[in-house]
Amino acid sequence: MPDGAHEGFRTVKVRPSESGFGGWIEGVDLARPLPPEALAEVKAAWAKHSVVSFPRQALSLDELEAFTLQIGAFGVDPFIAPMPGHPNVLELRREPDEKATNFGAGWHSDWSFQKEPPAATILHGQVIPPIGGDTLFADCASAYDALSDAMKAVLAPLRAVHSATRAYGTKGVFARETEKRTMEIIVSDEADTSLTHPLVRTHPVTGRKALFVSPVYTVGIEGFTVKESQALLGFLFAHITQDEFVFRHKWAADTLLMWDNRCTVHFAEGGYDGHLRVMHRTTVAGEVPV
Ligand code: SIN
Repeated sequence: MPDGAHEGFRTVKVRPSESGFGGWIEGVDLARPLPPEALAEVKAAWAKHSVVSFPRQALSLDELEAFTLQIGAFGVDPFIAPMPGHPNVLELRREPDEKATNFGAGWHSDWSFQKEPPAATILHGQVIPPIGGDTLFADCASAYDALSDAMKAVLAPLRAVHSATRAYGTKGVFARETEKRTMEIIVSDEADTSLTHPLVRTHPVTGRKALFVSPVYTVGIEGFTVKESQALLGFLFAHITQDEFVFRHKWAADTLLMWDNRCTVHFAEGGYDGHLRVMHRTTVAGEVPV
């Protein structure tokens, strides 16, 4: 954790990353219900920094579920079988002998193809490989801010088309996969459907505008030809994922990480073939993007 100014919170200790996108929170025990002031401060720090990490939080599955419910109701997780007895917890597991691409290895905002995509994703580190396995986050609000006023005006009325088809569809990556995968992925024609969301959305808590597109789940722009969509989305994907907007999270066992899907995209980096990596994941329900 870098040295950083205490941010003026009264009950929790928050250290921001150098850019302010991403931060670390200490002084809380997530295994117990948070007192109201601490919970409010955790939520405020999360809104401010978008990706917050809580080191040294050994949690049972029940405790992970209980913490999640303090942030909000569970989201709906399609296309992946949940943990037995825990319908709202996914285990992201990759065995040392797996050769299939690691789960999450493409920039995305979780389940953005849903009518109400999850506000938060919570990931709890169980088994961390000795090399690789970082999670990268891109700040879609700062990326929006950095655009010219002329480009902002072009994007303002646009709606982006989101679909799970490239990943979970009947002709998607997982349907075509031949390598062994421990995680039970449910390929479905439901994944081949699509819907639209504003290409620029406004965060319901901070009021900041953010680009809401990703290479995994955004498949077009409403009213645009395929070539036009590819050109504009290609520019936006490259813009969002520039180094200046990216925060790298390095894992340790028992770290709990919570990110805001409304203003970030993330990418699970591989680089740990031959090693076990295990995470427990929940999502918190969100709202219709506006
Ligand atoms: C994901 O939720 O996309 C996976 C992130 C990770 O495993 O680092």
